[in-house]
Amino acid sequence: MLNGKDLLSIHDLSADEVYEILDCAAKLKIMQKSGVEHKLLSGKTLGMIFEKSSTRTRVSFEVGIFQLGGTGLFLSSKDLQLGRGEPIKDTARVLARYLDGIMIRTFEQSKVEELAKYADIPVINGLTDLLHPCQVLTDLLTIREHKGKNFRALKMAYVGDGNNMTNSYLYGAAKVGMTLNVATPENYKPNQKVFENALSDAEETGAKLSWTQDPIEAVRDADIIATDTWASMGQEAEHDARKKIFAPYQVNKNLLSHASKNAIVLHCLPAYRGEEITDDVLEDNAHVIFDEAENRLHTQKAVMALTMGTI
Ligand code: CP
Ligand code: NVA
Repeated sequence: MLNGKDLLSIHDLSADEVYEILDCAAKLKIMQKSGVEHKLLSGKTLGMIFEKSSTRTRVSFEVGIFQLGGTGLFLSSKDLQLGRGEPIKDTARVLARYLDGIMIRTFEQSKVEELAKYADIPVINGLTDLLHPCQVLTDLLTIREHKGKNFRALKMAYVGDGNNMTNSYLYGAAKVGMTLNVATPENYKPNQKVFENALSDAEETGAKLSWTQDPIEAVRDADIIATDTWASMGQEAEHDARKKIFAPYQVNKNLLSHASKNAIVLHCLPAYRGEEITDDVLEDNAHVIFDEAENRLHTQKAVMALTMGTI
């Protein structure tokens, strides 16, 4: 179903395609843990363009393509002619002559879309200012592992900045029919167009999506609570101001006392302890949060195998 396609946004996927990725990731995880070879991308090459920093995305994509029998090329925009002004549409058409797939982490979503338009090979969004689809697909896998497969019975809360993670959670929850309550300050809401698109997807799946300014209201009886940095990459200069504005949105024990008794906490990492999350909450949930980090590997292997391969 996904063969030859791009992964630019969860909104572009059908619900069946989302489940296909999750099921494939779960299978690849079992195979890897039991030492079974799964060289589904033997001889294939993934180019990985980074215009922002990364630990998890870079390492999990590079290890993932290697485990699938292929090769990953780390392409820093500082070293590419792209960084000296070569147009994305030319870069796209050149790279498509050498590679079998491209993963890109950049600022504007429009840049990823332009790359995908001009490169006739699969393009995977490894994070933009607007979206982080690979991370949210990973989080859905992690939720399934820790809370069961029935997303429709689950209530999730996202507390903090209405950023690329929030936008992708809205798209992810909408596709699988999960309840998602988002709490952000009034001026830091998720992207309005994304919210509208997600609400329209939700009509088909029955997902309940809502926004509030009140973090306690958002986490009430939640099974899953997620947060993320208050200052995303590119917003470093706003960090001090944001720390003051977001202080009431810290995920701490007091806030969690309003959630369901067995609630789990997700964080895509990197985490800033003492800001969006306290050290004790992160450490109490380390078993989930580092499963989440590990699952980047399995989920992205599934994305690569399904888009760049022939399964
Ligand atoms: N969560 C995530 O994308 O981490 P990196 O920025 O380290 O890739
Ligand atoms: N919202 C964060 C996510 C980092 C993985 C950022 O864009 O920096």
